[in-house]
Amino acid sequence: MTIGSENWNLTVFRDSLAASQGAADVVSAVIAGNPHAAISFPTGSTPLGMFDVLAARAARGEIDFSVVTIFCLDEYVGVTPEDPNSLTRWLREGFLNRIGIKPAQLRSLPVTANDLIAAAAEYEESIAARGGLDLAILGLGPNGHIGYNEPGSSADSRTRVIELTPESRNQASDYWEGAVPIPDRAMTIGVGTLLEARQILLLVLGEAKAGMLRRTLDEPMIADVPASWLRMAGPRLNVIVDEAAASDLSIGRRVRSAGPDNRGGESGE
Ligand code: PGA
Repeated sequence: MTIGSENWNLTVFRDSLAASQGAADVVSAVIAGNPHAAISFPTGSTPLGMFDVLAARAARGEIDFSVVTIFCLDEYVGVTPEDPNSLTRWLREGFLNRIGIKPAQLRSLPVTANDLIAAAAEYEESIAARGGLDLAILGLGPNGHIGYNEPGSSADSRTRVIELTPESRNQASDYWEGAVPIPDRAMTIGVGTLLEARQILLLVLGEAKAGMLRRTLDEPMIADVPASWLRMAGPRLNVIVDEAAASDLSIGRRVRSAGPDNRGGESGE
């Protein structure tokens, strides 16, 4: 498949605030269309601006999260949701509590189960039972991962336990607290599961991601760069980036650059 025949969407915003607002607009539209939407949100530094915009909109009554279902995207194996290093806890405290998500609305990954293979399969089934994800929101790892689908992940991979790469463990060390070592395994929603979502939003910000974004969008799809598989979703994929992240892309003719209307304006809180 050539780039020219691919029909996913890329929008380049002037800066990270405008891109965060653009990403929040996608979330708002999905929930306006389906208040019962099933959504997965990423962790990491990338979504923080989007979280602020969404929390501010929820506080103003412009978006209603009261009947959405949140599926956790990834979690370290053996780490309970109360652990200070839990990704689920991080998402709850940094975002979900601010938008009033109740425990019954949150599905966390069964990373403390005795039988992790069976538990991952059950989680996968619970997504299917919900009718699949309505919106999968993803960041781009420095090594090309989405969720914890590390390099080597196939396009049809499902929710499973995966060995973390040294890059990902190093990335996690920026957040890690306490003396407990960073686990070497995580459970993640699979690429195939993400690809089946009704809409996929890949949010990529900052110059440090420019090279990996180019490999994701501009080079052949390959398991070495799991995020590149997302292009198989065609028009269900929206890639939202800032100009810094887009600086290495050679596919400028595809770019619908967001103009001055997207400058400034709505701030987080
Ligand atoms: P980051 O992580 O937002 O902290 O860069 C992205 C990711 O690894 O998915």
